[in-house]
Amino acid sequence: MARATYLAGISLAAAMGALAACTPAKAPETTAATAPAPAAAPITLPVSINEVMVALVDHASEPLWQDSYQAPTTDDRWLEVQYNAYQMAIAGKLIQLPGQGPNDSEWVADPDWIIKANEMSAAGMQALEAAKAKDVDALNTAGDRLVEACESCHKKFKPALPSMGVYKSPTYPPPR
Ligand code: HEC
Repeated sequence: MARATYLAGISLAAAMGALAACTPAKAPETTAATAPAPAAAPITLPVSINEVMVALVDHASEPLWQDSYQAPTTDDRWLEVQYNAYQMAIAGKLIQLPGQGPNDSEWVADPDWIIKANEMSAAGMQALEAAKAKDVDALNTAGDRLVEACESCHKKFKPALPSMGVYKSPTYPPPR
């Protein structure tokens, strides 16, 4: 909400700048420019948080954990670790936006959800540093932090069964 207000403030300032630059002859056009900017629509995800969990959070975290047990041996594979870590760091922020799930709006409005989502993002950043340094021990430490972030949130917010019924593939990630 604060971000929307901020953006609205920018466009209002831009409109006022345009007004000051105009000559009196163009007065009729500036009348339209000074009309109040329409309120920015709040951003929502096009899918449910459940789907984000399966397609992004779980998809990126599983190979991260595998790599922390069995260190990648090539630069390309370490780059994959980086990409998965980026995805975790980003996902922790993304799930602070509501999506199409029936409980999404309620979850993201809970301050404890934000704390736990930020913790997942921070663990992702820690994994990113480890990946950049190609340091498997550091990746392991980040992986432990990550699993704690998942578990603490699931313990509080995840119902016994997924409410949207979107599951991960039982065979993901595929063997390397
Ligand atoms: C901020 C809270 C939060 C964090 C952090 C979080 N989850 Fe979730 N996750 C949920 C909620 C809530 C659901 C249930 C969504 C639904 O059913 O609509 C869910 C659902 C899932 C699902 C799909 C349902 C299932 O049981 O198969 C998977 C897979 C999943 N999470 C994996 C993870 C993993 C792995 C992590 C950590 C890397 C993680 N989640 C971190 C809140 C969280």
